[in-house]
Amino acid sequence: MKSQVYSGVHDSPVAQLALADADQTRQLGISLSSQAKPGDFIGLIGELGAGKTTMMQGVVAAIDDSDRWQATSPTYALMQVYETRPPIFHIDLYRLEGWSDLESIGYWDAVESGRGISCVEWLNRIPGAWPGRGLIVELERNANRRVARLWADDDWAQRIESLELSSPDQSANRELS
Ligand SMILES: Nc1ncnc2c1ncn2[C@@H]1O[C@H](COP(=O)(O)OP(=O)(O)OP(=O)(O)O)[C@@H](O)[C@H]1O
Ligand SMILES: [Mg+2]
Repeated sequence: MKSQVYSGVHDSPVAQLALADADQTRQLGISLSSQAKPGDFIGLIGELGAGKTTMMQGVVAAIDDSDRWQATSPTYALMQVYETRPPIFHIDLYRLEGWSDLESIGYWDAVESGRGISCVEWLNRIPGAWPGRGLIVELERNANRRVARLWADDDWAQRIESLELSSPDQSANRELS
């Protein structure tokens, strides 16, 4: 990921961790949502099957444990609103053509409302969808391992620091650094 494309994020990832299985991807979502508040923006970047929706399941489950809301790929709905507290706007840019489509799905209304946490899969599909503040989770899937890199603005960098994120698989983490 080129950090220059996303104004306001630090030049290098504030954290990088190995995700040994889907549970750890979900756990990352749980950890991040413990720091999230209304008005926040979280972008997700990663190829097909990288784990974006899996991470979202963790985000949603940590905010609402009632099982009423299940994160699924909002590919057809483009935006799903989970009326949790705070609400979560789960958006997928995969099928959008360009910047002008954002208006028609109510993208900026959601992102700028301050009412909920906006989580955007395929953020990199549309230059200009980045609001200039927030957190970007880059999920990378290689042949034999998965890695998450967290790119943050100043505000999120502090929050990530307080999380002391680490994967239980310490040896994998050492390999990454
Ligand atoms: N760290 C991991 N290790 C192994 N498998 C994982 C890991 N994280 C997620 N998975 C699995 O990868 C598969 C794809 O995950 P997911 O649907 O979340 O990807 P996605 O990025 O949302 O893909 P798409 O862009 O197609 O919507 C799921 O079966 C999920 O359980
Ligand atoms: Mg998905």
